[in-house]
Amino acid sequence: MLRFLSERLVFLREFGGKFETTGSILPSSRYLARAITRYLKQRGDTPIRVLECGPGTGAFTDQIVRHLREGDRLDLVELNESFVDVLEKRFANEPHWQAVADQSEIHQQLLQDFDDSEPYDFIISGLPHVNFPPVVVDTIFQSYFRLLKPGGTLSYFEYAYIRPLRTKLTLGKTRQKINGVNAIVTEHLANHRIRRDNVLVNFPPAWAQHLRIEQTQH
Ligand SMILES: C[S@@+](CC[C@H](N)C(=O)[O-])C[C@H]1O[C@@H](n2cnc3c(N)ncnc32)[C@H](O)[C@@H]1O
Repeated sequence: MLRFLSERLVFLREFGGKFETTGSILPSSRYLARAITRYLKQRGDTPIRVLECGPGTGAFTDQIVRHLREGDRLDLVELNESFVDVLEKRFANEPHWQAVADQSEIHQQLLQDFDDSEPYDFIISGLPHVNFPPVVVDTIFQSYFRLLKPGGTLSYFEYAYIRPLRTKLTLGKTRQKINGVNAIVTEHLANHRIRRDNVLVNFPPAWAQHLRIEQTQH
């Protein structure tokens, strides 16, 4: 209970100071965490590589670690030092996390700057795309495609209806920005989406978007 409250407090504090990158007041619910890891849960027997982008206090990580086995690899890319501290404590103290701590690594940096020699079978992202300018969203999606294996799955979430509604309800420069983001995201969804889960039990309700990339794109 104490951990639950302190993680929420960290989130709220970081939302106040770093609104654009934190992107939400509260961590995602366990229902959203289950929806976003749906394809990871269906993994086969061969070892897999998983990349989590923007884990925050670990709402999705807590599900991810339960689906990992010996020989798998988990990389977490998180920009915010306060969240990295929380994640390190969870890997040190919580049984499901401890079990895979040796095969996991936290990288405190921007996803856009993250590079790894081998691509990933699964990318699970909590990055708040709608908060960023189109050029950043474009670079983030390029990073996903660069880091994903052909045939791999990208799962990310966004708050339900917010992106399409904001294209109608905003004005001026904000509208230009959200239209730019919407165009990029809509195109990727049209080309690659395999499923959308509607998750009502989350604040706010969310869509878990799942994309499969057949060819690596550059
Ligand atoms: C909306 S929160 C999601 C946190 C968590 N996945 C959840 O669902 O509760 C977004 C997270 O992405 C991180 N973040 C934002 N931009 C980032 C970037 N470019 N690279 C890496 N992490 C980033 C933030 O620090 C924050 O932890």
